[in-house]
Amino acid sequence: MEEGSETGTSKTLVFAVNGRKFELSDVDPSTTLIEFLRTRTPFKSVKLGCGEGGCGACVVLLSKYDDIVGKVENFTVSSCLTLLCSIHGCSITTTEGLGNSKDGFHPIHERFAGFHATQCGFCTPGMCMSLYGALVNADKTNGPESASGISKLTAFEAEKAIAGNLCRCTGYRPIVDACKSFAVDIDMEDLGFNSFCKTKASRMPLYENKQGISRLPEFFKSDFKSNLLFGSEKLRWLTPKAFLELDSMLKTINSSRVSQVKLVVGNTSAGYYKELENCDTYIDLRYIPELSCIRQDPVGIEIGAAVTISKAICGLREACRIESPSEGDIVWKKIAAHLEKIGTKFIQNTGSIGGNLVMAQRAHFPSDIATLLLGAGAFVNIRSGTTYETVSLEEFLERPPLDSKSVLSSVKIPIRELKKGRNSRVDSKLLFETYRAAPRDHGNALAYVNAAFLAELSSCGSSGETVLNKCVLAFGAYGRKHAIRAREVEKLLTGRVLTIRVLYEAINMVKGTVVPEEGTSREAYRSSVAVGFLFEFLGPLADATVGISRCNLSSKGAEENYEEGDHVIYPRMLSSSRQVFQLNKDYHPVGEPIVKSGASLQASGEAVYVDDIPSPANCLHGSFIYSTKPLARVKGIQVNPKSHSNRISGLITFKDIPNGGKNVGSMTIFGPEPLFADDFTRCAGDRLAFVVADTQKEADVASRLAIVNYDLENVEAPILTVEDAFARSSFFQVPPFLYPKEVGDFSKGMAEADHTILSAEVKIDSQYYFYMESQTALAVPDEDNCIVVYSSSQCPEYVHATIAQCIGVPEHNVRVITRRVGGGFGGKAVKSMPVATACALAAHVLRQPVRIYVNRKTDMIMAGGRHPMKITYSVGFKSTGKITALKLDILVDAGIYTDISPVMPSNFMAVFRKYDWGALSFDIKVCKTNTVSRSAMRGPGEVQGSYVAEAIIENIASTLSVNADCVRKINLHTHDSLKLFHPASSGEVQEYTLSLLWEKLALSSEYSQRREMVIEFNKCNLWKKRGISSVPTVHEVIVRPTPGRVSILRDGSVVVEVGGIELGQGLWTKVKQMTAFALGLIKCDTLEIDLLEKVRIIQADTLSLIQGGFTAGSTTSESSCEAVRLCCEILVERLRPLKEKLKTEMGSVQWEMLIQQAHMQAVNLSASTYSGPDFSSNRYLTYGAAVSEVEVNLLTGGTTILRSDVLYDCGRSLNPAVDLGQIEGAFVQGIGYFMLEEYTRNSDGLVTSDGTWTYKIPTVDTIPKEFNVEILSSGHHKNRVLSSKACGEPPLLLASSVHCATRAAVRAAREQLQSWGCHDLYGPNFNLEVPAVMPTVKEQCGLDNVERYLKWKMCTH
Ligand SMILES: Cc1cc2nc3c(=O)[nH]c(=O)nc-3n(C[C@H](O)[C@H](O)[C@H](O)COP(=O)(O)OP(=O)(O)OC[C@H]3O[C@@H](n4cnc5c(N)ncnc54)[C@H](O)[C@@H]3O)c2cc1C
Ligand code: FES
Ligand code: FES
Repeated sequence: MEEGSETGTSKTLVFAVNGRKFELSDVDPSTTLIEFLRTRTPFKSVKLGCGEGGCGACVVLLSKYDDIVGKVENFTVSSCLTLLCSIHGCSITTTEGLGNSKDGFHPIHERFAGFHATQCGFCTPGMCMSLYGALVNADKTNGPESASGISKLTAFEAEKAIAGNLCRCTGYRPIVDACKSFAVDIDMEDLGFNSFCKTKASRMPLYENKQGISRLPEFFKSDFKSNLLFGSEKLRWLTPKAFLELDSMLKTINSSRVSQVKLVVGNTSAGYYKELENCDTYIDLRYIPELSCIRQDPVGIEIGAAVTISKAICGLREACRIESPSEGDIVWKKIAAHLEKIGTKFIQNTGSIGGNLVMAQRAHFPSDIATLLLGAGAFVNIRSGTTYETVSLEEFLERPPLDSKSVLSSVKIPIRELKKGRNSRVDSKLLFETYRAAPRDHGNALAYVNAAFLAELSSCGSSGETVLNKCVLAFGAYGRKHAIRAREVEKLLTGRVLTIRVLYEAINMVKGTVVPEEGTSREAYRSSVAVGFLFEFLGPLADATVGISRCNLSSKGAEENYEEGDHVIYPRMLSSSRQVFQLNKDYHPVGEPIVKSGASLQASGEAVYVDDIPSPANCLHGSFIYSTKPLARVKGIQVNPKSHSNRISGLITFKDIPNGGKNVGSMTIFGPEPLFADDFTRCAGDRLAFVVADTQKEADVASRLAIVNYDLENVEAPILTVEDAFARSSFFQVPPFLYPKEVGDFSKGMAEADHTILSAEVKIDSQYYFYMESQTALAVPDEDNCIVVYSSSQCPEYVHATIAQCIGVPEHNVRVITRRVGGGFGGKAVKSMPVATACALAAHVLRQPVRIYVNRKTDMIMAGGRHPMKITYSVGFKSTGKITALKLDILVDAGIYTDISPVMPSNFMAVFRKYDWGALSFDIKVCKTNTVSRSAMRGPGEVQGSYVAEAIIENIASTLSVNADCVRKINLHTHDSLKLFHPASSGEVQEYTLSLLWEKLALSSEYSQRREMVIEFNKCNLWKKRGISSVPTVHEVIVRPTPGRVSILRDGSVVVEVGGIELGQGLWTKVKQMTAFALGLIKCDTLEIDLLEKVRIIQADTLSLIQGGFTAGSTTSESSCEAVRLCCEILVERLRPLKEKLKTEMGSVQWEMLIQQAHMQAVNLSASTYSGPDFSSNRYLTYGAAVSEVEVNLLTGGTTILRSDVLYDCGRSLNPAVDLGQIEGAFVQGIGYFMLEEYTRNSDGLVTSDGTWTYKIPTVDTIPKEFNVEILSSGHHKNRVLSSKACGEPPLLLASSVHCATRAAVRAAREQLQSWGCHDLYGPNFNLEVPAVMPTVKEQCGLDNVERYLKWKMCTH
């Protein structure tokens, strides 16, 4: 090691990755670990999903030697936030380091594959590492040794290990099962479907990690006592080992006045603040002993500011164990339990307590820790120069921001003991409780509001009433600068006997105290939840029949759905699941639930995505500059000189389109969309320019800092809503052949009705794709004006054509290659084209390779997403609920360019017709607005159609005061009405399985019994209500022609090319099975299963196989299979004479021998097709149904999906494991749409939900607690590929059952409000918006429900 001039300092940064030592002497200290791993090592498994600590795709294991305890510590970290210099002396393990295809996969990889727990695979490496971190640490615990091959991890820990990792494909259930398979307390029989034989445990790859626990090369254990003083004169990383050293560093720096200094511990704040300007000096505080220790004394516990959240949790728990149990322990226990919910495990492992408090104090971060510690009456120690100061946390928060010379040194939480004065009563109690209302409980979400309450209580004589002797009420995160104590409320309550009236007074005062600053989102909701928290805390005590005698110190422990862990009460996550299907052996190995092709490679991180392809020499990186104005003249774009302009190679705009080229960025059958705005921007999010720089980081910073000069003079007002578009007749044309047909006579139907609802409205908003791999491309110029582009696209053929048009070359000059896509969901169809085209144009102009990995924010702003809609309807119906007529006026917000929007009317209507509406009439307008053009998203238009149908049914049911599910049932189609509504796709009567599904699901889900139980539950529970709902789906799909080619190589191995792209949907796996089946028909003496091993599906290459089309609409797998089947048929025909000849000559013919002979005899062993069903049979209907049960918390609006049962008709599934994954994944993506995901915009139409902080897709803790899926095998289907049916998109629609069940629960809440005399606002007809996020649900349950309850109580008692 190189020694610096200062004794004991190193000028070389040393660390190891997967056992390989790295020594660096020149690093920019702002470099993150992920940047280094992905650009300077071969370890590409570390994926960039968000860059802000919110997704877990980049998780790695960090191991370091703790010389105080003399042990190696292992913990997970997010490599996107961890600074490279902070890992001096550490060892990093990525998933490739656990195992790989050369050295053998790790059991984690094999079990992820065997449990069918990967789809696109982009989240998988991070998932594996999160699980591995939990396994390693569980094995270090002192519990009894577990049996060989089994870890000490518990099932709950296994589930929790991945609570902070996002997956957009699988719906989590199989991932949870893969993780739980390692748990010591699990019975394999209870786990979900997997490929390991349940009777032979030996087939499950055993986990033996004990010897590998350390993961730290020996050379690190002795070598790293020196601090790192690293960098050049300009850029420095300093690691002081004592306060004195820190003081002198700060003094020198402050006096030099040139440095931009940052004190740093975990650097996790970078995920929130995303500073664009880098500092030149970083001072790492972790090596100052006082900052990193936890001390306990008789008056409290002191936690050093640099102590990580994880260590603080352990410290607080340890403190409870060491002390003889006292009432004060409850404070520490509760704080520890709350800290568990902060961020994610990998953030808790590096984020410090002090860092959090400084963020709260200096930068108004909505901190939980500040609120908790305020409630606990904590103090902080601040060191400025050589002076120390101790102040209460309350005072610290109120002060001006901590200056650059001061360091927060520690926080002290005092021990709370009940005062045993002369007047103290024996039955005094200390109560401490903490609260947070957040979209996700454990899956990383900031709170809308949080609170920590402490109370000293005693009982008031024989009356049983409770006296509040003292209380501390802290509220935070609700939209003020920092957490506060509600002093006035405390004063009001202190010394009072707790009665309903006192509580009512206090609550009204809270409402006036917890007031968010103007401009905070959901202001009223936040205040209302604060009220709910106080009511939950004190409400039981105001009831003399409860009193403090029954006041359980851990009150939540009694609740259902909570589970006692070690010292802490955890909400249970996914508790059980069931997967049911029938195996179909007729077309073996088609129909087998074989493991997804390449699953282990995805888990080990070796699967290559576009951004994993090594950069060619001189490769540049691009980033889009987008407009922030909806309609304006663009006068100029200036790249900010601060943003490393010397490393910027170009700014590409429409002016750079070469002669002969066109400003085109995407194209569909409806026309092109420009690549760049010309002199005018037409929407916020419009692409204005493409800045090209040496690195992705530099390009991103340059685009963020670019200054766009807009001119708004004489520019007309933009159209930002469908109402504006309607008023100004701004519409896109829908070709007549795409416009759906009406059914029956609306006026006649209305005349037959007993009841009507007139001009009711439903509005639905957008959804973002949130593919884990954002848009990406790499363009490499080739000889003679040719170009090769690697694109993560669902339609390389169209990317190809767009590029050729843009740069003005013949199409044969362009080659687009797509191997796999890290999640698409429709977002990598049209929207992938401008990304690849911009790279191609830049590469063409600059004559250098250019690549891009679009950052998450830009991706979210430019994506467009699902089409928002406004629907106005009038409906007539009988008193039985039978609908006689319906008319709809639909306004679709298509955004600024056509994209695929003209298909919206037909898509919407195809699914909307799931019920027999009697007569159906409609007018659909596709509106052109000044917003980013909307594009196809999984179930485009269909999800909206299905949901609107349910909203109408719900409205009818409310009007008639009957169960909505009865209205559904009575309006389900007969086969005759189905033919009327779906003339082109209704099929034979035996193919119509919806009624069967509906009845079967009612039985398997025990719908009737559970409905009774729900009614009973609602009677017995004041603040929790449940709802249950059953929803059907009828979804039309269209099969399109697809090309395929099968080639047999000399050794008998088989190469297959198909038009379809592997997006994670299992297309390759099904195609492989089909190839083995269809080639197997040659009937050699080789098993089809062996043939399976010989097949490889290769990347799509648009010059090798043309006319690939779009991978979309759920049917590409089956059409690719059919194309391959036909190719195989040709090959089998060619091979058959030779095979017969050989058979006669030799008796037995092995596959390899046949192929060798065929090669020798010049048989053409490559066959290709381009085929699809004829027009009369290219459409068919799919059917499914789901029952969901939801519980709503009326105090917070929080929802818990207790159970979902899905039954779906897959025809004869080509691969039930793959189809189960599609059904579950789609359903959970639908839960996101209906319950969680708010894709918000500002008043200019610019997307404001632009990252993981604001956009919340489901996590493992938000999916159904019980999740059962059954595939109905519905026998022979004429015209379908081996009788199979599609399932990629339709199950997403079934997630509306969750929304409908929530609505049912809300209805019960409103009925209760009415019973309290609130008839004014809370009638039976209400609109529960999509998504039904917590504030929306709470609004419908009554933002003032607590006050109304107390008022009613006061009046009636
Ligand atoms: C994905 C994610 C989710 C999160 N969720 C939550 C949540 O739900 N609730 C919640 O409360 N928090 C949450 N956080 C915040 C998290 O707790 C903080 O980011 C973390 O604790 C900060 O610690 P750090 O060591 O990483 O700070 P750093 O990033 O290293 O530093 C933060 C700031 O404090 C300064 N600083 C650090 N230590 C000191 C010191 N001792 N003296 C003076 N200045 C100092 C630094 O200069 C910097 O300005 C989340 C964070 C992430 C990334
Ligand atoms: S990329 Fe690091 S957490 Fe998302
Ligand atoms: S498999 Fe998890 S994101 Fe695709």
